[in-house]
Amino acid sequence: MTDMRARRLEMSRRFALKTFGGGAIAALSLTLGAPILAAPIFRQYPFQLGVASGDPAADGFVIWTRLAPEPLAAGHGMPAAAVEVEWIVASDARMQDVVARGTAIARPELGHAVHVEVGGLAPNRPYWYRFIAGRERSAIGRAKTTPAIGQPIDKLRFAVAGCQHYEQGYYTAHRHMAQEQPDFVYCYGDYIYEYRGNRFRNFSEGPVEMVRQHVGDEVYSINDYRRRYAQYKMDVDLQAAHAAAPWFVTWDDHEIDNNWVSAIDQDGTPPSYFALRQQMAMQAYYEHMPLRASALPIGNAMQLYRQASFGDLLDFNMLDTRQYRTDQPCGDRWGVPCEEISRSNAEMLGRQQERWLFDRLGSSKSRWQVLAQQVMMMDLDRTPGEGKTENLDSWAGYRIPRQRVLDQIRRLDLDSVVVLTGDEHQNYAGELHVDGKRPGAKPIATEFVATSISSGGNGEDQREITKLIQQENASLKWHNSRRGYIMCDVTPDLWTTEYKTLDYVHERGAPLQTRKRMAVAHGMPGSLAEA
Ligand SMILES: [Fe+2]
Repeated sequence: MTDMRARRLEMSRRFALKTFGGGAIAALSLTLGAPILAAPIFRQYPFQLGVASGDPAADGFVIWTRLAPEPLAAGHGMPAAAVEVEWIVASDARMQDVVARGTAIARPELGHAVHVEVGGLAPNRPYWYRFIAGRERSAIGRAKTTPAIGQPIDKLRFAVAGCQHYEQGYYTAHRHMAQEQPDFVYCYGDYIYEYRGNRFRNFSEGPVEMVRQHVGDEVYSINDYRRRYAQYKMDVDLQAAHAAAPWFVTWDDHEIDNNWVSAIDQDGTPPSYFALRQQMAMQAYYEHMPLRASALPIGNAMQLYRQASFGDLLDFNMLDTRQYRTDQPCGDRWGVPCEEISRSNAEMLGRQQERWLFDRLGSSKSRWQVLAQQVMMMDLDRTPGEGKTENLDSWAGYRIPRQRVLDQIRRLDLDSVVVLTGDEHQNYAGELHVDGKRPGAKPIATEFVATSISSGGNGEDQREITKLIQQENASLKWHNSRRGYIMCDVTPDLWTTEYKTLDYVHERGAPLQTRKRMAVAHGMPGSLAEA
């Protein structure tokens, strides 16, 4: 710490008046520059948004919190001042054996979010952490470092989840996921939904009341997005899932706006105006996620694609299928494909990310390679019988980039590639072929699609229409329409995906079921079957 910083902190300790939350008293600044408050007193509990850890590496991880004594109020109950927050990392759950500690600054520029990149830890073991601000202590979170590069690993167990529309169901699935203490959680996106609050939804059977309601209108400004994240993060089941394991997060569309790609939204907003909304959304996303500083947004750009590796067992390539994509074909709708799906200049990942992915796949020495991403790669015909419809916001609307990825996997002779996907609000397990309607003899890879945490409401076990779709699409091996998440059990020789489902999300407390286990053997992408 510089002398100046030390003096400044001492000054603020002695002289600043430090009471915030609920009619906060403005901080007295006797220092040069922005004041830093060292021992604040809060009228309300400042850790109401919980704690989180993320982006684990072999030597550490990010720990996160955000001070918000009044989470939904303008200014979130904090003064426009920087505040000191202490953090502690221990090797035991009771926090007796402290192995790292320090002080971070919660800055008003970032909505008083705190991201600490903890390093110097041992590989492949759990740690526990908490934050302290003034006299207030956060909940204790559990994180876990990854195995060292090349370290022999015989088992990894992680969760895949996303699509958590707050109004459409409770986060019971998150509570169950927390109890499993996975090695990590991959969140593919739709962490929030941008829509205005609605008391009910109209269905063909009539109006149905929402389980709970978004505060406010559709979100545009930084304060709108902050309040939306705050409302979601006040959910204690979601907090439990964050406190139980480190998360790797990527976004899908609803973190910004439905079906956006690049600088294009679905309403035809001029890109220079949409870029302003993107900046707000990206800042709020960074503020609320346990991301490293390398993901700090610059204008309306944010670096989210990245790789994590787990010893000699698994390379986990996280993709961003929104930010560098060309516009959806055929008028951006779920429907009848047009010629545009085969346009040669289409991009799903963008050339730079695609090259990066091919490099990572080419240099992989792991048993398994994962593409962890958002939208479905299986190109299913969604209309039973006559006629053909596809999800044109997914890879199905981007035939040429899709084929480039699958060709590259084949060219590299990789026979243990698994694609993990969200977005559909359905569970699917299937095989990937260049042309799903005319599958080759041997599939190129395996795809597991995870259902939603809550989006879509209760759902049902198997929809009649999807049974017919499966009959017509040989590459689709299983489907289910309940809410929940998936657990992936990975060993050197076998990948098992457990589909965890709930019978309902309109009330809390639904018991968890392992509805199905689908497994694929290493080196045999055609072996996908019930386990
Ligand atoms: Fe979604």
